Amino acid sequence: MLQPPLWRQLQLTATALAAIRAGTSGAVAFEAVEPALRPGVQALGFQVLRWLGRAEALRRHLAKRTPPPLPDALLCTALALAWDADHAPYEPFTLVDQTVEAAKRNPATRAQASFINACLRRFLRERDELIALTEREPVAQWNHPRWWIERLRHDHPRDWQRVLAADNQQAPMTLRVNTRKTTVADYRQALAALHLPSRPVALSGLQLERARPVQQLPGFAEGECSVQDAAAQLAAPLLLDGLQPVTPGAPLRVLDACAAPGGKTAHLLEMATTSPIDVSALEVDATRSRRIDETLARLGLQAKVLVADASRPAPWWDGQPFDAILLDAPCTASGIVRRHPDVRWLRRESDIGQLALQQAMLLASLWPLVRPGGRLLYCTCSVFREEGSHQIDAFLAHNTDALLRPSPGHLLPQSGGIARSVPDNVLGDHDGFFYALLEKRLR
Ligand SMILES: C[S@@+](CC[C@H](N)C(=O)[O-])C[C@H]1O[C@@H](n2cnc3c(N)ncnc32)[C@H](O)[C@@H]1O
Repeated sequence: MLQPPLWRQLQLTATALAAIRAGTSGAVAFEAVEPALRPGVQALGFQVLRWLGRAEALRRHLAKRTPPPLPDALLCTALALAWDADHAPYEPFTLVDQTVEAAKRNPATRAQASFINACLRRFLRERDELIALTEREPVAQWNHPRWWIERLRHDHPRDWQRVLAADNQQAPMTLRVNTRKTTVADYRQALAALHLPSRPVALSGLQLERARPVQQLPGFAEGECSVQDAAAQLAAPLLLDGLQPVTPGAPLRVLDACAAPGGKTAHLLEMATTSPIDVSALEVDATRSRRIDETLARLGLQAKVLVADASRPAPWWDGQPFDAILLDAPCTASGIVRRHPDVRWLRRESDIGQLALQQAMLLASLWPLVRPGGRLLYCTCSVFREEGSHQIDAFLAHNTDALLRPSPGHLLPQSGGIARSVPDNVLGDHDGFFYALLEKRLR
């Protein structure tokens, strides 16, 4: 395929960055790029978002006044890509030349082209001194907003630096093998036959050495595997392991309360190979709920998919208690910033409290639907305690019929190595997650 010139890719990356800074999600901003150019622009954009704190700090030293949004986005794009010569995707000199070319070729940035040129040439001349000046600024050093760094430091005093460093790494591609269709060993062999080395993680996962488009994975269209982070693969086994229906032989009644796009719904169904299971999958967003149908259709699985608000059961609940409920609650997504590097710049600190309230409401509304002796697994892909351990401490204090079963608690993101975060579960590189398994006491 013909590669577009670098200046064009830089223009598109800067446009996406300007949109994200104005509040657009990264998914929407990169979706706006024409499909042929999208992978390259997204790869540059992800790198820029991972080093944006450093780039903005450098820009403050280079320019007395902040330029208008688009020229500023172009300048910061170049600085984020060029500041670390060892990891720059192109020679810093090339990046500077092409950024100036990008500025000249767009009427919206042309007037700032010589200013951008002057800033970037000075950066090349004085790089070491300028980097040293930014070294003491936490936002430049860690590339997260200040409030985020402080919150993480408070919540995880021993691990906050490790988490911030992991957040700036590229996440691996991890697959979950559909054990209704094949085995982990057979699927691993099928990957190896296509020169795709992998290593087993979690219970039925394989972590690829190198990411690949899903169309290149063997049997993907036929539902032999799904893409799912290793920590996310703990949900279904945690909820189902050792759980029996009250009446022997009857199907387990399971509710997946916040289900789209259906990754965990599918895993619950894939796990039930020896005993019957009846899964209801709720999703409040009708557009997103269609993704559950697509997921299940590809994997050859069936659930009752409902568009409904889990925090208001009256319209959709038939009054029959559930054996198990999965509450994968809406959250800040602060545990998955490796895969969504825009999240840290889009979130506001006040979002945490608002989401924690929503989570508490969901917990309170769903708990009465669990049968005595049944379970509710609460999880979020967040590293903040307000959405994790503090939420569950408050719930347990108010619900004396709830018992906390052995649970992973806060799993912090792990990059670059095998982690034994959960006994007997080698998770490999994984995202940040929180899990609490609650059991309703028998009266
Ligand atoms: C973290 S995502 C779920 C991911 C999903 N469990 C998976 O593994 O594929 C949370 C989902 O909950 C949905 N949601 C938020 N509030 C809800 C509510 N009150 N009732 C039902 N779904 C809700 C969101 O639209 C979002 O799709």
